[in-house]
Amino acid sequence: MTALVTGAAGFIGSTLVRSLTSRGITVRGVDNFDSYYDPSLKERNAASLGHPDFTLVRADLSKDRLEDVLEGVSVIYHLAGRPGVRGSWGRDFDFYTAANITATQRLLEYATASARPPRIVYASSSSVYGDAEIYPTHETARPSPRSPYGVTKLAGEHLCSLYAANFGVPTVALRFFTVYGPRQRPDMAFTRFLRAALTREPVPLYGSGEQVRDFTYVGDIVRAIAAAGEADVPAGSVLNVSGGGSHSVNEVLDVIERLVGTNVPVDRRARADGDVMRTGADTRSITELLGWRPRVSLEDGLAAQLAWVREAVSNGSLAAV
Ligand code: NAD
Ligand code: UGA
Repeated sequence: MTALVTGAAGFIGSTLVRSLTSRGITVRGVDNFDSYYDPSLKERNAASLGHPDFTLVRADLSKDRLEDVLEGVSVIYHLAGRPGVRGSWGRDFDFYTAANITATQRLLEYATASARPPRIVYASSSSVYGDAEIYPTHETARPSPRSPYGVTKLAGEHLCSLYAANFGVPTVALRFFTVYGPRQRPDMAFTRFLRAALTREPVPLYGSGEQVRDFTYVGDIVRAIAAAGEADVPAGSVLNVSGGGSHSVNEVLDVIERLVGTNVPVDRRARADGDVMRTGADTRSITELLGWRPRVSLEDGLAAQLAWVREAVSNGSLAAV
């Protein structure tokens, strides 16, 4: 059995590969090392994955030939995508549609044509909800994205449900809520805040800082992803995955200041277009179906991420973005 991890050189993908190979699973990774953020960070992630049961293919899922990439694969963990809420406006939109919609459609077409379609676990996002009407938000709430990014992630999710309903492809979409931990992307809040605390270079703080997120530790996310790929979940399922807390950005800054022992120098900016005021998941469905629950507290997860950021700042691999 070979598991395919798309986006294997990225933040969540590389963490998933490490977890799967440590459990004796043979993994093929695919990544195009795109330049959404410094590709040398992705090279470092990939280099750290050296394991006899892991191979990496460099390919672009939105346009390259997929047959060799997908040959003999029984499960696809589809994490490749163009992330980032705030950067999805304007002229980069084509990158979002190619990575989040076209690449997903191509994997689904391949699965449809297979004698035994692989299970596909799709990395969806809390951003499909936008500013939800009810918190904690259940999967049955009406999606209403506030950013072009959220629109493309919702389109990918709809494609999964469509291929499940029409062709029986065993898909499951997991809606991740703001993920953090070691190797978090350099454009995301915690990496930027921790870096600022250590380097004393100011970081933008968007809006009042009172926006709330249901932050999720990456180790908890990869346990949910693996469980969804290994269980017999009904085709077309959509499940929230979140850390189960409600923390404002200002509270996060306080925790970081306690951990680092110094303030985070911030540069106050207007609220960013596309940023929602609050996310918060109802996670009863994933607990019922997979027995999954988050385990890592914000304080412990931030301490683990601080150790990684400290190392990355000291070896010069984490530039400001
Ligand atoms: P990331 O950018 O670190 O990882 C994505 C990887 O996919 C990158 O290494 C990139 O090079 C690769 N990629 C992009 N387009 C590709 C293509 N066409 N072909 C092959 N590879 C391609 O991002 P991440 O934070 O690890 O996110 C992983 C997935 O989870 C994304 O789909 C994202 O939308 C989703 N997600 C992330 C979060 C979060 O908080 N990080 C939350 C919700 C959903
Ligand atoms: C994150 C990911 O970036 C998306 O890819 C993902 O799909 C989304 O989570 C999700 O849950 O679906 P976001 O919640 O914006 O999006 O995560 P962060 O970049 O960590 O930002 C958290 C908060 O901090 C936001 O309100 C943001 O405005 C704020 N922030 C971020 C700052 O104030 N300053 C910064 O420098 C960065």
